[in-house]
Amino acid sequence: MHADDVVNCHVLVIGSGGAGARAALEASRYGKTVLVSRTLTGKGGCTTMAEGGYNAVLRKLDSCPMHVEDTLRGGAFLNDPALVDVLVHEAPDRMADLIAWGAVFDVTDDREIAQRPFGGQRFPRTCYAGDRTGHEMMATLVERLRGSGVRQLQDTAVIELLKDGNRVTGAAMLDRDGDLIICYADATVLATGGGTRIYDISTNCAAGTGDGFALGYRAGAELIDMEMVQFHPTGAVYPYDARGRLITEAVRGEGGLLLNRDGERFMTRYDPERMELSTRDVVSRSIATEILEGRGTPHGGVYLDVSHLPARTIEERLPVMLEQFLAFGVDIRKEPMEVAPTAHHIMGGLRITPEGQTTLPGLFACGEVTGGVHGANRLGGNALADTQVFGKRAGESAGKEAVRGGTVARSRIEELRAHLDGYYGGTTPPAEIVGRLRLAMWDGAGIFRTEKSLVETGRVIDELAALTPRAAGSQNLLWCRTVENMIVLSRLIVKGALLRPESRGAHVRKDILQDWTPDRSPYMHTYQSLSRAGIETREVQV
Ligand code: FUM
Repeated sequence: MHADDVVNCHVLVIGSGGAGARAALEASRYGKTVLVSRTLTGKGGCTTMAEGGYNAVLRKLDSCPMHVEDTLRGGAFLNDPALVDVLVHEAPDRMADLIAWGAVFDVTDDREIAQRPFGGQRFPRTCYAGDRTGHEMMATLVERLRGSGVRQLQDTAVIELLKDGNRVTGAAMLDRDGDLIICYADATVLATGGGTRIYDISTNCAAGTGDGFALGYRAGAELIDMEMVQFHPTGAVYPYDARGRLITEAVRGEGGLLLNRDGERFMTRYDPERMELSTRDVVSRSIATEILEGRGTPHGGVYLDVSHLPARTIEERLPVMLEQFLAFGVDIRKEPMEVAPTAHHIMGGLRITPEGQTTLPGLFACGEVTGGVHGANRLGGNALADTQVFGKRAGESAGKEAVRGGTVARSRIEELRAHLDGYYGGTTPPAEIVGRLRLAMWDGAGIFRTEKSLVETGRVIDELAALTPRAAGSQNLLWCRTVENMIVLSRLIVKGALLRPESRGAHVRKDILQDWTPDRSPYMHTYQSLSRAGIETREVQV
């Protein structure tokens, strides 16, 4: 390893998806800003893979109070109402920013922004660019970053937040060769996205390993509701390599039907009113139940059918779906897709204020790494809006931090270096640890949970945590660190799931009988940090 490279800046933004790119753009108005990307800005990250859309109140017949209520109901009333209020009221303006910067959203014949229905919403408020909405947004943000003066460190990953006392003062990173870079910053924004790659079947990009949750936790930040993991109802089930790949909710928004092996439109049994456009937690559980009870398809899913729609609708509104399934040998204009739930989004995360301030001074956060916006179940289309609304807010708050000049004890850097060197003498190939972890999480901390399944998963996690991932060379050091991060995230999810003695939203404890509905729940957030863990309770009449 070479001598450390040192970078100094006013704001360090970690993660270059939608939230990170938006935060960096905003922060750069206040001072020197560095954007660190584990992949390439706009190429990795989950935003660019987001298909369906961006929720915003744009029409007279819609309203902010209705969007707020849909979001709270969808989130099983576990959302932080102040965050929801900000999300809903600022989503239209942040979309206007994107459009002003060149983003092209689909329009109606009257040249108004087109909107489609998504689950759990009483108004079709999901704006879109075909079924590649996130890609359009990222292309716009990347273009905007070009002229912004933001310094981009690509192919570089943060391995630890650095602190001076309780204040976050920057981060230690590894570049693609495994060389250490130390970055000192007056303010740091964590925008690392999600982490459902800890599950065997996931929609996330390869970088969706949950690094930000682990970075925040190890630094001492408080995380809330980590047990709330969203399983998107419709992921591909075959071919094997495509398992879990997102089949956008837009398919159901455009009129797609869910059918079981017997051709029955089974949602009539689970949510006869909202049917295929029920909330994701309900649709995922319904599909899982059909499969578990033996009414699944040959490849172990259910059918999702759009063959009754005009071919032109499919070609124009769902071009990526059409192309993708043609590659799998299925023409969705004529035959159904096979789909099953796939781990998609982590609704818990770092506790933030509406300004994006975490519980640690000097550390801000935005996007999927934060908790509270989406409660116990996110509405489809609210995540892209979240990236822009809270990305701007966190970037602005970080930019307004005082100039202090970061420092960190030299001994901390030496400790980190020794930790990394320890991987060369590790016990186990990282892929072996990850493979076992993913299966354990899928089996024990998935859509349905019991105390027994969670305790068993926790036991496997402890066993894996006792192993040291082995680095074959310096380029492997990051992968070893990533494996440790995945273990931290898995622990947080399992512990949160054991802390919450109720079924709510995406968290279903089959072993607990409860006689309250989410709006009457005596429980609020679970919280976890290095110093404390528990569940908040409140006075309610149940
Ligand atoms: O189904 C989808 O297109 C995903 C959207 C989302 O997660 O918001």
